[in-house]
Amino acid sequence: MIKKEVIYNGNEKQFFATDDPDKVIIRYKDVAVAFNNVKRARFEGKGELSNKISALLLGYLRDCGIRNHFIERVGDNEQLCRRIEILPIEVIVRNRVAGSLAARLGIEEGLKPDNLIVELRYNDDELDDPFINRDLAVALGLVSYAEIDGIVAEAKKANEVLKDLFHRIGIELVDVKLEFGRATDNGEIILSDEVSPDTSRLWDEQTGERLDKDRFRLDLSDVVASYRNVYERLTTVLKEN
Ligand code: C5P
Repeated sequence: MIKKEVIYNGNEKQFFATDDPDKVIIRYKDVAVAFNNVKRARFEGKGELSNKISALLLGYLRDCGIRNHFIERVGDNEQLCRRIEILPIEVIVRNRVAGSLAARLGIEEGLKPDNLIVELRYNDDELDDPFINRDLAVALGLVSYAEIDGIVAEAKKANEVLKDLFHRIGIELVDVKLEFGRATDNGEIILSDEVSPDTSRLWDEQTGERLDKDRFRLDLSDVVASYRNVYERLTTVLKEN
């Protein structure tokens, strides 16, 4: 696979064209951003760890029947993926109340309801990613009702698979943000983007220690060490791909 020009330069990831029009190489940078890009910092080694973790998790999800854009890891910081027209919808699945949900409702972080909470947000930095619902997703012309229902069902399935996997390594999956898009080769809607400590909350089951991007958001230090901890635990149960 020949890596060609940059087609999109994001805050934390860079996308390269390849000699196959339906495949891209995604490079994970040593950068963290938070609070709608207000907070930003460089962390040596974070890109490699996020790439490796995301590759392990997307590969595992694929093995569990959750189709996604990941094909293979092609370097420490890079992975080959199917090219996707990403839908501007963030699907957040919450197993426990934390983060912006706790702040918004004035609830202390940690409440664990019996049901799952699914939130949909319209991915638009200028609007600060406003909440939408399935009617709005259809009204905005982004998806059909059948498609958004399929996306939410797939997100819930992915959450279950990831929750069980993390539990095997002593980590609780508190929440996860998932993005979907249409593959350019056949138009199917599949899971894409990344799944990593940047896009999920991961709490150590024994100590409650945060092993995710909240370490950066909340100035807790040891960001890279926490990501390495997650990666090393994952490699005890998953094979590199
Ligand atoms: O901040 P909030 O509680 O809404 O985040 C919910 C989940 O979505 C967290 O796992 C967080 O890391 C993730 N998230 C994300 N990208 C954003 C906002 C939140 O991956 N822009």
